[in-house]
Amino acid sequence: MTSDLSLENPDLVKDGDRVLLYLDPRRTWLVQASIESPQFHTHAGIVELSKIVGHRFGESVLTSLGERITILRPVTLDYIMKSERRTQIVYPKDFSYIAARSGIRNGSKVIECGTGSGALTTYFASLVATEGLVHTFEAREDFYSIAKKNVSKSGLSQFVKFENTNLLDPSVVLRSNSYDLAVLDTGDPWLLLKIAHNALRGSGFVFCICPTTNQLETVVETMKDGLFCDVESVEIMLRQIEARAGKTRPSMRMIGHTCYIASGRKVQQENLDIENVKSS
Ligand SMILES: C[S@@+](CC[C@H](N)C(=O)[O-])C[C@H]1O[C@@H](n2cnc3c(N)ncnc32)[C@H](O)[C@@H]1O
Repeated sequence: MTSDLSLENPDLVKDGDRVLLYLDPRRTWLVQASIESPQFHTHAGIVELSKIVGHRFGESVLTSLGERITILRPVTLDYIMKSERRTQIVYPKDFSYIAARSGIRNGSKVIECGTGSGALTTYFASLVATEGLVHTFEAREDFYSIAKKNVSKSGLSQFVKFENTNLLDPSVVLRSNSYDLAVLDTGDPWLLLKIAHNALRGSGFVFCICPTTNQLETVVETMKDGLFCDVESVEIMLRQIEARAGKTRPSMRMIGHTCYIASGRKVQQENLDIENVKSS
């Protein structure tokens, strides 16, 4: 009876749905509600997963220790933050800025190097779906496999083309002038600027993730060689606020630094007035 109802009503948890169990902001678990996996153990007590099926999203269940846990529908960011990570990832504050600045949306084509743990891949796949594609390159086989698994869990694999390939390999052939956005997160993004330029449509964006100022300087200086205009460097700061009556203040804990972001927009070379191109 329950499963019949849940098929009709998208607000009900179905057998096999992934759900986010929420105890408090620091204690959340991404699990699969299933009539076949009866129990999930937490330090706040046992949750009967089979009993979650048929509940409405937003409802609560009690653990065996009487703790109240709310059943939330996971969003893309929940999948990303719960994914297996073996590399540094691009954080939400950074990839959401890239998304806003570049205007990526359903139907856009993105080229990415390297895939790493697939965090940025997952987020951009959710934006370009259902008509677009993220074409992502990862040199290391182990990271490539983990990223594929991570994206698959979020249900977005069909919007991603994975390649276990070093993008600097001369045998890689990309369609020219076909991507709206290139994201380079490799440690040495300046080496990939010409490849990105060739792949991008005219005026398409390149974004380079630079953990250090040295990398930022090198990539920006290379970008100023005439291939890109509108070159910009930013660092995004995000501070949590602990809001409580009469004692609201910033959180004592904060992610201090993730990366600097350098961006530019493709200038079509055939139209360049060479005389007027500055070399620095
Ligand atoms: C910091 S991680 C990328 C993290 C990713 N942006 C994320 O959000 O999960 C950098 C990755 O780039 C890969 N890489 C570096 N140079 C590469 C190249 N030339 N071609 C393909 N992958 C490369 C590395 O193996 C590494 O996995």
